[in-house]
Amino acid sequence: MNEVSRIVEVGGESPYRIVIGPGALADGASLAGHVRGRHVLLVSDSTVAPLYVATVREALHEARPDLLVGTFVLPAGEASKTLANFGAAIEALATLGATRDACIFALGGGVVGDLAGFAAACWMRGVDCVQLPTTLLSMVDSSVGGKTAVDIAQGKNLVGAFHPPRAVFADTSTLRTLPPRELRAGLAEVIKYGAIRDPLFLEWLEAERQGLLAGDDATLAMAIARSCEHKAEIVERDPLERGERALLNLGHTFGHAIETEQGYGSPHNDNLNHGEAVAVGMVLAARLSATLGLAENADTDRLIALLRSYGLPTSIPAGLAPEALLARMRLDKKNLAGRLRLVLWRGIGRAEVAPDVDENRVLAVLSGY
Ligand SMILES: NC(=O)c1ccc[n+]([C@@H]2O[C@H](COP(=O)([O-])OP(=O)(O)OC[C@H]3O[C@@H](n4cnc5c(N)ncnc54)[C@H](O)[C@@H]3O)[C@@H](O)[C@H]2O)c1
Repeated sequence: MNEVSRIVEVGGESPYRIVIGPGALADGASLAGHVRGRHVLLVSDSTVAPLYVATVREALHEARPDLLVGTFVLPAGEASKTLANFGAAIEALATLGATRDACIFALGGGVVGDLAGFAAACWMRGVDCVQLPTTLLSMVDSSVGGKTAVDIAQGKNLVGAFHPPRAVFADTSTLRTLPPRELRAGLAEVIKYGAIRDPLFLEWLEAERQGLLAGDDATLAMAIARSCEHKAEIVERDPLERGERALLNLGHTFGHAIETEQGYGSPHNDNLNHGEAVAVGMVLAARLSATLGLAENADTDRLIALLRSYGLPTSIPAGLAPEALLARMRLDKKNLAGRLRLVLWRGIGRAEVAPDVDENRVLAVLSGY
């Protein structure tokens, strides 16, 4: 721990601690403190592994020389979040001889965190998982709350489990190697917390743009901690997303539809990544809410201006047909009984779940009317 580090406690049935700050990955004693047995599988991806696997391995070895540490590396990118790679992670656990007291360390972004978390949920009906997020998006969102999953061709995250981590270590110094575009993607999720429940945080984000985009450790740690506090508060009360947790999905139904429709398996650079798709999705949700009379146009304009000031996209990429996006939205996990269930916006700081949204209204917004 150092002067810029922060801690957020997640309560509920399976409480855990989120440590945020530079140098967290080198704190072997703290990392190893979560390993109950002798087996550790370090899951990472092909970009992150060469940068940080050695740091974690050495830290663990110094604290617990008796540990058997295996490494499983995925090709970087969303296209790796597959059932096939999930199977390969399970094989790696078997090869390691991992017993029920094994611990999986997920070192990487949300792709690694989701797949490694799902492997931890399934191996021997559940082993420990420690999340070591290295993207801003995974620090503020995917590493917290216990949702794990892989994608299938029909949609993102359709196969998965709830499996809370034992701990989260968000080492902000890893963000120095993160491409600026990925940093901005994470900031979309940070902005989301302000949009759905914290007007003062939104104002702070309007004021602190320079420090955040420049990667200042203290400012980032503050933004990550505030975001995690919001997520923690919600998942403590609603761990299985039976109610208010769905609010965290503002813009996500639209965003997932865009991601799936543009083909998350394809490596095109101009495809939106998850955070960018969420930014566009929030704008679409805000516009839909404005047409339904729930949000003021002035609030929507303010949200759009903030997203743009962070260099985030705010409109649907060219070439995606509105009808095709709507078809994708029908397969969203939030939907019940065949009805379109969406998170709508009530202006800065407020959101609500609407159980049955008129598809024609949605189509109109997707078509740009
Ligand atoms: N479980 C949840 O609650 C939850 C919430 C939000 C998003 N998600 C999932 O998270 C995924 C998106 O996560 P993401 O944006 O972190 O994507 P990602 O894991 O693909 O990481 C983005 C890119 O950054 C690279 N990278 C990661 N850390 C780096 C670092 N420190 N330096 C240099 N490069 C680095 C990765 O190799 C990858 O190429 C999606 O699959 C989404 O569905 C899950």
